[in-house]
Parts: sequence; structure tokens; C-alpha cells
Amino acid sequence: MKVLVTGGAGYIGSHACVALLEAGHDIVVLDNFANSCMTSLDRVKQITGEDFPVVEGDVNHHRVLDSLFNSHDIDAVMHFAGYKAVGESCEKPLLYYRNNVAGTLSLCEAMQKHQVALLIFSSSATVYGDPPTVPIKEDFPLTATNPYGRSKLMVEEILRDLVSAEQLTGSGAWQIALMRYFNPVGAHPSGLIGEDPNGIPNNLLPYISQVAIGRLPALSVFGSDYPTIDGTGIRDYLHVMDLAEGHVRALDYLAQGKSTSGCHTWNLGTGKGYSVLEMIRAFESASGKTVSFKMAPRRAGDIAACWADTSKAENELGWTASRGLSEMMEDSWRWQLGNPQGYRS
Ligand SMILES: NC(=O)c1ccc[n+]([C@@H]2O[C@H](COP(=O)([O-])OP(=O)(O)OC[C@H]3O[C@@H](n4cnc5c(N)ncnc54)[C@H](O)[C@@H]3O)[C@@H](O)[C@H]2O)c1
Repeated sequence: MKVLVTGGAGYIGSHACVALLEAGHDIVVLDNFANSCMTSLDRVKQITGEDFPVVEGDVNHHRVLDSLFNSHDIDAVMHFAGYKAVGESCEKPLLYYRNNVAGTLSLCEAMQKHQVALLIFSSSATVYGDPPTVPIKEDFPLTATNPYGRSKLMVEEILRDLVSAEQLTGSGAWQIALMRYFNPVGAHPSGLIGEDPNGIPNNLLPYISQVAIGRLPALSVFGSDYPTIDGTGIRDYLHVMDLAEGHVRALDYLAQGKSTSGCHTWNLGTGKGYSVLEMIRAFESASGKTVSFKMAPRRAGDIAACWADTSKAENELGWTASRGLSEMMEDSWRWQLGNPQGYRS
């Protein structure tokens, strides 16, 4: 299939490009490089030995999308383009709703116009808010506690409406996958592509890596009094290559017409949670480095524990995360060591 990958130069998108090319698909990337650069795509080409077109442009721009769909025979879209920083979304909600919600609307309009009906959307476990219990199943109640989370929830609802409207008229064509990611970490084992945050990292692993390499002085561990094994927060971390491969499975599932309804939801996680202190210890043992950290008060909005029930993805897609914690840490560290300043080195 020929797959349009929006946001393909970013962290998850670049790994998905590798997984798609390795599975024999053709790709076209659309990215405005708001949070990435061309180097990641050059590295994707280096890893896979494959060339592919890259369109520099914004998913909000109808003309860019029209020209892209006119000049490439696209069968499916993986939509990674969006902003992802919770804190920033609280400061700039309009920016987040414009880019994440309106951007997806523009994309769906263009897809409808050009009769491309297969869409895989990057949602997030954040749509579960503070879950009543763990592990979290796909049918748990949905809620959002910040504009970023709400932007994901709004898009999910828009996409469900799109499919329901077609079901009402019996004209079902849309095949949509809502992929709810838990906490992606790690990097491609080549060490050529990985997570390259702009400024101070928001996520745990890039932060730990930057402390280990001496770019940041110490990690603050927010909350040491949660009702967890060691008082620190527990999350479900999964290797970004497992996540990328989950997308390829979803694409195959939708393309083979296995679905009975047009909108599917899958959790992508490992089904196992690790505390912040366990993550620090695992990173130290993979890297041989000491990670300085200090305990800090809980952050508003953070929850104690969150991990996925992944049985739906396993049963329907035949997908499980196969890479363990030490592989996540070793690959993160290899990426950080080889690229101490990210793609700017
Ligand atoms: N990384 C995570 O922890 C995580 C967790 C859950 C969901 N997600 C979602 O997955 C998706 C990818 O996340 P990521 O970690 O790879 O982020 P990223 O910032 O590394 O990648 C996003 C890419 O989209 C591009 N982009 C942003 N707005 C665009 C626009 N209007 N037009 C074209 N390109 C645009 C950016 O330049 C970047 O290359 C996002 O939608 C994010 O919300 C990420």
C-alpha cells in the first residue's frame, strides 16, 4: 500500500516510517518540521535503504493536501502530526485545538474528497484521565484533564461521528483505527533515530538520558507518596519500535477488511507498569551511568498508576510488545550517546 505519514519526521512517525518500509509498504511523508528536521528522514532512508517523497507542508493547509493527494496515489493515512506537550497546551489551548483538532478535520476533508478512507490516528492513554482501576481496557470511561488530552478526545469523537454518519446512510467506507499509546520510549537499535525533544524534555526517558550524558544536572521525581511499591508513579512504557509495528498490524487489519464496524480502538502498551525509581535503576544498569535525582512534590494532574490491558490488540491484531525494559534502556542510551545534541550534533 502507499501510506501518507503525517508528522513522519517526528519521534514516533520516523520509527513508523521504518516499520512501514520494512513491511514492504511505500510511503509519502508530510511534515512542516515544527518539532523535527529533515535529518530524521535522511536517517530513515539510511536505515532502510529506501527512498521516498517528503512534502514540507502543514496538515492544516487544504491546498497542500489537495496537491499531495493529486500527485500520489495514496491508499491509507497514518496521522502523527500534532503537538504533544501537556503543559504548553494549558498555556496555548487555541494552538493545540487548531493544530490537533482542526488539522485532523482538514486531513479528513481532503481524504473524503480524494476517496481515501483508511486512517490510523495517534490517540493517547491520556483519554482515560484518572482510571477507576488498572489495567485499563478500551471500554473504560473517557475524560480529559487538559487541552492536549481534550484535543485527542475531541478527534476521537469526530472520527466516531464520521463512521456513525456513514453507518446511518449505509454508505460505510471509512476504516479508522484509534491507537491509544501508553508511554513510548527507546529508539531504533541502529542508534540513528530517536526522541529529540526541543529544549527541556517533558518525558521521563529523554530527561534521564540527558542527565546521564551531562546536559541536565538532575532529575526531579514528582511525587514519592503515591500508593505504589516505592511511592513513585507507575506507567506502562513500551518500545517505540513495538509501537510502530502495532501501527503496521492495524493497517493490515483494516486493509484486509477484517473489520465489521468502521472505527476501532486499540491500546498499545506492554500491560506492565514500572515506577520512576525502577526506570532510573534500569537505565543505570543499561548505561553504566549514575543518574542524579531528587524527590519533589506531586505535580497537579498526575495520576498514581496507569497501565494497559493489551488483550484486544493481541486478540484482534496478533500484536504484543516484544521488547523488554533493558532493550528500551539500551536503545535509548545508544541514541543519546551517538547523538548527544539530538539531530543537531
Ligand atoms: N510521544 C508520546 O509520548 C505520545 C503519546 C501518546 C500520543 N502521542 C501522539 O503521537 C503523535 C506523534 O508524537 P511524537 O512523539 O512523534 O511527536 P513529535 O513532535 O516528535 O512528532 C510530531 C510531528 O508532527 C509534525 N507536525 C506538527 N504539526 C504539524 C502540522 N500542522 N503539519 C505537519 N506536520 C506537523 C512535527 O514537526 C513532528 O515532526 C502526536 O500526535 C502525539 O500527540 C505521543
